[in-house]
Parts: sequence; structure tokens; C-alpha cells
Amino acid sequence: MRTLTKDAINKIGETVSLMGWVNVRRDHGKLIFIDLRDRWGIVQIVFNPKNKELLGLADKLRPEWVVKIEGVVKERPEGMKNADIATGNIEIEAIKLEILAEAKTPLFDIASDGYEIGEESRLKYRYLDLRRPRLLKNLTMRDKTIAFIRDWLHKKDFIEIETPILTKSTPEGARDYVVPSRLHAGKFYALPQSPQQYKQLLMVAGVERYFQIARCFRDEDTRGDRQPEFTQLDIEMSFAEEEEILNLTENLFTDLVRNLFPEKRITQSPFSKFTYKETMEKYDTDKPDLRKDKNNPNELAFAFIVDFPMFEWKATEKRWDAVHHPFTKIKNFQEEISEKNAEKLSALQYDFVLNGYEIGGGSIREHNPEILEKVFEIMGNEKEDIRRQFGHLLEAFKYGVPPHGGIAPGIDRLLMILQNEPNIREVIAFPKTGDGRDLMMDSPSELSVGQLKELRIKIEKQKEK
Ligand code: AMO
Repeated sequence: MRTLTKDAINKIGETVSLMGWVNVRRDHGKLIFIDLRDRWGIVQIVFNPKNKELLGLADKLRPEWVVKIEGVVKERPEGMKNADIATGNIEIEAIKLEILAEAKTPLFDIASDGYEIGEESRLKYRYLDLRRPRLLKNLTMRDKTIAFIRDWLHKKDFIEIETPILTKSTPEGARDYVVPSRLHAGKFYALPQSPQQYKQLLMVAGVERYFQIARCFRDEDTRGDRQPEFTQLDIEMSFAEEEEILNLTENLFTDLVRNLFPEKRITQSPFSKFTYKETMEKYDTDKPDLRKDKNNPNELAFAFIVDFPMFEWKATEKRWDAVHHPFTKIKNFQEEISEKNAEKLSALQYDFVLNGYEIGGGSIREHNPEILEKVFEIMGNEKEDIRRQFGHLLEAFKYGVPPHGGIAPGIDRLLMILQNEPNIREVIAFPKTGDGRDLMMDSPSELSVGQLKELRIKIEKQKEK
């Protein structure tokens, strides 16, 4: 049976079998030492010159080769102990060595933190890049964070429900990624920009408390805190008002930080809260960085921004657009809901801000189908378009829809801040480059003529410039 490096420490005197990668090799006179690495750490292996054949084999070992080593766990003599590593009190005296896989020399250092290495090569050889402890730690903390969130929400009676990836365009302000349908040539699915409409339909279905660790897709320009595909903690609740949703969010994130990131300090509890007007007047931004000491990596300044305007004027398109999304409920009902009043209407919309980043957004939804239709009209949609695009939602809302609302914090942005990383690519296993490519898989890539034919798609040749 295999022993993990971290467990060898409890097996002094026993013969164990370890598997992993050669992290470092050191030759000391006639002795050969290697640091064997597995996911849990490293342990020192020593090859004794008494066993000539074994030593000869050990001499072949190079960094990143994959090996199986049988040996006896020995306590290191005083003076040889290494307090810097968890297994520093022991070493393994090898009695058997099996080479499971040889390795080419990695093209870059995988022991460093990696910031100094060009991103093109890090992303092309991401599987090597992920071997560096910093990235492994980011993935581990991401997993722990998601597990904590799931557990916390389950305890509050939320259920996680998966919603489709092959779906229909939902307006979240970006372009859709589309997937051609083979069975319905000329028709396309859209990948969800978020599960917005599905989670609202789940409220009509009586689910009441929904969440999902949801993958979202948006065809927009990538930057440090934006990826074409990213992950949200998507939440929706029936019969809840704004305050209940904000309280739930605050309690969840406070507990998360206390439990998994105890070194972090929350600047202000309860979290700061500003109206959109207040934050714009005071900070000239809707995502203020409220940290008291911006040089302190362990400070977390959470804030909620509320009362956004419902509509904004899109000068290029010459129409009103929803600031959040059209499903948001309008707040000040004394105003008539019409195009002429569009500028005055404010929304039951909130943003969740952390250290100057927008890490979440949400709203109370308009559940009256007539008002919802009005909103679509103000946004410049013809009645016919509304029926075609949102008919299913308007219809569903005629069958007993509970008042509802929700929020969706972005998991990648949250992790980026909690792990003190400069961009979200550092907390995503396989991120895309700035121009949306996966260098390791070489995607996007061309389809075969056969595939295109089956989909009845013709590619227009780009004109030479
Ligand atoms: P919104 O569009 O505000 O709301 O998105 C919510 C949060 O998702 C994260 N996010 C992103 N993260 C990485 N890359 C991106 N391209 C990206 N786009 C958004 C942000 C953002 O705050 N359906 C609504 C939520 C709701 O109303 O319940 C929605 O998606 O952290």
C-alpha cells in the first residue's frame, strides 16, 4: 500500500512504499539524496552506496521523473533535522526504486511562485504550472471555499440545482456564445450568461431556496478580473426582501472568512452600505475600496451598494437599457413606469463590493408580468420580440409566482482577493488568455469539413487586409 509523504512521519522504523515526483536531487560524495514530492509535501530519500545497483539506478534520476520508492523510515540524527519542512525529522533509506515515468526537463521553474514567467508558456504548459505550490494552494482553497458554501447553504435548507448549459440567450449585457444545432440546422443554442431565468422559473416551481455553483459564459473583452467563462455562486429565494438577501450574504461571507481565512480581518461589520448616489458622490465609483490600510493584504472591506438607477441611456443604440437586468423590480412606484420617466426610476438592485472590486450583483425581481412587459418595451423591444424572447417567463408568471430575489457573487473574483492574487487567472485551473484562447488545448480551433457540413455551416473567408 502507498504511504503519503505527510504520513511517513508516523512510521519510524517501518518499511513504506512512496510514490511521487523527484523534486530535487542532491549528490553528497557517495550518497544520493532526492526530495520526493507528492500533493501533500516532500520527504527526503537517501540512497546508500552499500547497494551499488540501487545507487546506479538512482544516479539516473532527474527532476520531475515519477518514481516508486520502497524504504525504511528513519529518524534523522540531531543536527540533520530540518525544521522548515513537515517531514524534516525523518528520511527514508531506499531499498527499492522503480521508475514509473521519465520526464523532459520543464521549460520553466516550477518551484518558484511563477510570477516572473511569461504567461504564454505558463498557460501552454498549465499542467506543469499547476505543480507549483502557490497554484496548488489556490486550487485547494477554491475547493474548500466551494465546499464550505455548499455546506453552509444546505444547512439553511437551500438546494443546489443544475440548470442547462445549452440554452437560450438571456440578456446580461454581454454577447452570447452560441452553439449550432445539428438537428435543427440554422438554429442555435446560447450558453448561459448566468442561470438568471432558470432560477426565477425554479421559484415559480416552488423551490423557494435555490443555489448553484454555476458556470457562466460571456463573450466580452477579457481583463484581469474577467474571463469568458467563470463561476458564480448563484442564489435565489422566494418571499425574501432585499434586507434578508443582504443579511444572508453577509453572514455567509463572514463565516467563510472566519473559518477558512482566519488571518484576514474584516474592516467593518456589519458591512458598509451606501446608495448608488451616495457612493458616486463620496467616492466617484460604484465599487469603492474601503480598506483602511491598502498595503495590508489581510484586510477585507466588504460593502453593499443599493438603489441603483433602473435604466441607463445607451447613446450608441439610442435606447434605454437595464442597469442590472430587465428582471429587476422598480423601487419608486409613485413614478409612472414609462420611457419618459425612465431616468427617474430606481431599482431594487444591489452590488456586493470587496476591496474595490464588484464581487456580486443581484436584485429583487419584478414578478408582475404586465410591469415586466413594460420594462422590455422601455428597453426598445417590440411586443412581438418580447413574446419570442421572454414569452416563457411571462407565461410562467401567470401561474402563481411568489415574490422573489437573489444574488450572484463571483467565485473567481472572491478567490483572487482572498488568495492575494493579481488576477483571476491565478485561481482558475485552466483559464483563457486575454484574447480568449486556451493555449494548451489550442482552442478555439477549426472544425472539419464534415462537421461543418453536418451543421450546414459555411465559413466566409476573411478578406486579406
Ligand atoms: P452580474 O452580471 O452582476 O449578475 O454578475 C454577478 C457577478 O459575477 C461575476 N462576473 C464575472 N467574473 C469573472 N468574469 C466575468 N466575465 C464576469 N462577469 C461577471 C462578478 C459579478 O459581480 N444573474 C445576475 C445575478 C442576479 O441578479 O442574481 C448576474 O449574473 O463577480
